[in-house]
Amino acid sequence: MSFERSVSAPDPRLQPETVWGIQIPRIRFGRDSVEELAGLLRDLGADEDAHGLLVTDDTLVDLGHVGRVESELERDGLSVDVYDDCEREPSVDAAEACIEFVRDERGEAGYDFYLGFGGGSSLDTAKVARVVLANGGEPLDYVAEPTGEGERITDSGAPLVLLPTTAGTGSEISPVAILSVEDQETKEGISDENVRADAALLDPTFTTTLPPELTAETAMDALGHAIEGYTTHRFDALLRPSDPATRPVYAGRTPLTEMFSEKAITLLASNVRTAVNNGDDLEARSAMLQGALFGAIAGLTAGASLAHAMAYPVGNRFHTYHGETIAVLTPASTLGYNVASDPERFVEVAEMLGADTSGMSTRVAAEEARAEYVRLQRDLGVLPSGLTELAGIDEDDTEWLAERTVESQQRLLRVNPRPVTKETVKATFDEALSNWG
Ligand SMILES: [Fe+2]
Repeated sequence: MSFERSVSAPDPRLQPETVWGIQIPRIRFGRDSVEELAGLLRDLGADEDAHGLLVTDDTLVDLGHVGRVESELERDGLSVDVYDDCEREPSVDAAEACIEFVRDERGEAGYDFYLGFGGGSSLDTAKVARVVLANGGEPLDYVAEPTGEGERITDSGAPLVLLPTTAGTGSEISPVAILSVEDQETKEGISDENVRADAALLDPTFTTTLPPELTAETAMDALGHAIEGYTTHRFDALLRPSDPATRPVYAGRTPLTEMFSEKAITLLASNVRTAVNNGDDLEARSAMLQGALFGAIAGLTAGASLAHAMAYPVGNRFHTYHGETIAVLTPASTLGYNVASDPERFVEVAEMLGADTSGMSTRVAAEEARAEYVRLQRDLGVLPSGLTELAGIDEDDTEWLAERTVESQQRLLRVNPRPVTKETVKATFDEALSNWG
């Protein structure tokens, strides 16, 4: 990228970025941190007998986790209604159903506070519900044009605390909620600083019941955030906006995000085998939850890139889940196509993943990142080998998938460290049909 500009008439829009920042919610992390939920809500302004909404899914009700959250709140005089109809990969309709529930129960004023409890889908549903109730209208009003109306969100609404029970999506700290728009076969983000939760409470005791497949999938998503964040553009390779308020959500990697990426990759890669094979191991679960949090702080600040861009059209068309889709796409995209952007960085990634690259040339060592990632996936024994095993996807589908990726995912592709074309994305999809076997 060139920053040449006229000396006599400098255009501020053409200067490289010189500023970076970090914006994350308040965080409480640790075993039994749920005991501090009520205090956290008080800090955020919940009144003496405040009544909130807990947005979750019925599995967490059946497991008794919802009951534990409720009793922690009741000990301090707080209460909640429970909305447990959240679905995986929520649609606009599903978010509307939750908003409808609130309007039926409480009118436009809504609840005094909101809790999202579960995987990324429950957290995203809670995020959308609270801002739509505060700003009026429907979710699509706030989705970017042309899919939605692109209206601005001006009010964050009542306090929102998110409690993830998977170690993966990073929704608990991100300013984005992802919804699928079924009639358009697309996934869209509602993205605004007001969408971000006020606090995230991460208690690993809620993650020990996560089954092996979900543990593996969400770990691969978290690893994707950490690696994509580590290998994307530096913040100063992007341009400085004339108005800081228009600085993009994904603003490139910074010294701070790099630090979080490094720790995240190490924590996730060295604990995922234990977490998948021995779910009750609280130490491994805690390391995974911490790794996922660090990966999200890094990747969802610096910017997710090619694998995430490619994953959305796959998820929409073939109804695959986000984590398993990222898992099968990462070897060919982030750790394949993108390696040429900066091989030395990928050598570092290989080593963080646990590969021994001593004595190898830079080129060969950089390719070890992909090999090590695939070894990890195979070891877990519960992940599909590629797009074909995932959803029966074959060569006839990849042209369409590449077209949709390039058309609909410029938000992510803009920060990919290596420029892409429809042809290169198609070739990457073709490679991802099978990663082994
Ligand atoms: Fe993700």
